[in-house]
Amino acid sequence: MKKLIVANWKMNPQAAPDAKRLVALIEHRMHAVSANTEVVVCPPFVYLPALMHYTKGVELGAQNMSWADAGALTGEISAGMLKQWGVGYVILGHSERRLYLGETDSVVNAKITEALKNKIIPIVCLGGETGAIKAEMKNLVTKQFIKVTKDLDKKQLSKIVYVYEPVWAISTMKKSEPATGEHAFELIEHIYGLLEHRIGKAEARNIRVLYGGTVNKNNVHEYAKYPQIDGALVGAASLDADNFWQVVSEFNREAIHRA
Ligand code: PGA
Repeated sequence: MKKLIVANWKMNPQAAPDAKRLVALIEHRMHAVSANTEVVVCPPFVYLPALMHYTKGVELGAQNMSWADAGALTGEISAGMLKQWGVGYVILGHSERRLYLGETDSVVNAKITEALKNKIIPIVCLGGETGAIKAEMKNLVTKQFIKVTKDLDKKQLSKIVYVYEPVWAISTMKKSEPATGEHAFELIEHIYGLLEHRIGKAEARNIRVLYGGTVNKNNVHEYAKYPQIDGALVGAASLDADNFWQVVSEFNREAIHRA
């Protein structure tokens, strides 16, 4: 299974030429890692049409999408529209959407179903809730997992990429603090446990579970050294091509080392 590194650009950069430059810098280095590592870039929606043509080696993802396929939903973007821009992945359940935009588990659940129906792979974040503290993460992740995957069958569950992304580890949060590798590993094993319970061990271990929260060139080894951590969701560091590339390279090195 290839490692997966997802760049979450959030509401950046501010102009299309910068978005194109950033993708081009990643794209032209991909040949060196593509045998073992995939990269998904998730820009703001408005850059997707322009970036479609720059992304041979990297895949395009969206940062959100609607739970509905069409209709009177001001400001929303459907899965069908995303497909036209070459989008193959979508980040769902990100803590910023929960905290600032009021997204709930049931909305995330409906969006996952809609993405899967349209053959877009959901990248589902677990661990984001206001005030969540470290000691409670297992309970929180369990609760979110049960709610956002409610009514999904085995096949649907196995098509999702899961991310353990504790809200307190996101670089832009007040007093943020990246998770230790050990904590990330423990919670990722916990997510595998939840998956095993629903779909069996062999199937569960074929699913990718990533870590997110202040991953950058300085700390990536903390996470990449665990073979169970299949990659990372990278925010701030993904806006700096060199920093991001070092994250990709480190996971790639570990993948080769274990192959
Ligand atoms: P960060 O963001 O890497 O800046 O902490 C990660 C995310 O919010 O997805």
